[in-house]
Amino acid sequence: MRVGYVQFAPEFGEVERNLRRVTELLGGARADLWVLPELCTTGYQFASAVEVEELAEPVPGGPTTTALSAIACGLGCHIAAGVAERHRDRIYNAAVVVGPGGLVARYRKVHLFSQEKRWFVPGDLPFPVADLGPAKVGLMVCYDHLFPEAARSLALQGAEVIAHPANLVMPGLAQLTMRVRAIENRVFTVTANRIGVEARTGETLRFTGLSQVVAPTGEVLVQASPDREEVGVVDVDPARARDKLLTPWNDVLADRRPEFYRRLVEG
Ligand code: ACM
Repeated sequence: MRVGYVQFAPEFGEVERNLRRVTELLGGARADLWVLPELCTTGYQFASAVEVEELAEPVPGGPTTTALSAIACGLGCHIAAGVAERHRDRIYNAAVVVGPGGLVARYRKVHLFSQEKRWFVPGDLPFPVADLGPAKVGLMVCYDHLFPEAARSLALQGAEVIAHPANLVMPGLAQLTMRVRAIENRVFTVTANRIGVEARTGETLRFTGLSQVVAPTGEVLVQASPDREEVGVVDVDPARARDKLLTPWNDVLADRRPEFYRRLVEG
C-alpha cells in the first residue's frame, strides 16, 4: 500500500482555487491513500462567525467532499482531508475519508485548539476507523496529537494507519508526538501539515510544514520541508501494524492495565 501527504498553502476563502491546487499536486504522483491538511479548502484563520458560516459546507454534498470524491474516483484512491462542516445549526472542524464511491468516514475534531473554540463546536462523534481494503485507517486532526487517548482509541479499534490532517503552528512538536503515537500503538501515521502564513486578525500564524509518514517503530519514513509545497509518498505494509509485539513477551495493546488508569493519584 502506498500512502502520501499533500503539503501546500491553502489560500483563505478560495475553495475552488485550493481544490485546483490539490488536483495539480495529486496529478504528479500515485498513492492508495492521500492525506491533505486540516481545513484544506477554506484556510484556517477565520475572523468572524459570518465567515465560518459562509465557508462551512454540508458533508457529504458540499464542494470539498464532492470534488475530492471525484478526484478519488479518477485516481482510484482514497483521500483524507480536513473540512469545515455545517450540520444543522452547528459548525465543526471536521475531517473525512472519501473514496471513488464518496464518503467513507467522518470525524469532528474533539480537541479544539486556540481560537477554533470561537468558531467550532467540539466533536460529538467517536474517533472513526474505516476499512479501506488495503488497510484500516483512523482519523484524527492536528491538536489531537497531544492527547494519547485519540491515537489509542483508533488503535484499539484496529487502525493500522492514522491519517492526521493538520494546521500546525508549534515548530517540531507534533512531529515528535506523532512518532511517540506510532511507537506506543505500533501503527503508521501520516501527518499532512500546511505551510504559509495567515495574518487576518492581528495574530500572525506561521504554519510549519514538515509533513511526515512514520512507521510503527517511530522511524520517519519520509518528511517534507518546513516551507515548500510538496507531496511525499512511501510504500507501507499494514501487516506490520497488526503485529503489536515489542518483545516476544510484550504486546503493547494486550499489556495495558486499564483497571489501574482510572484514579491517578490519591491525596
Ligand atoms: C491545530 O490544532 N490546528 C494546531
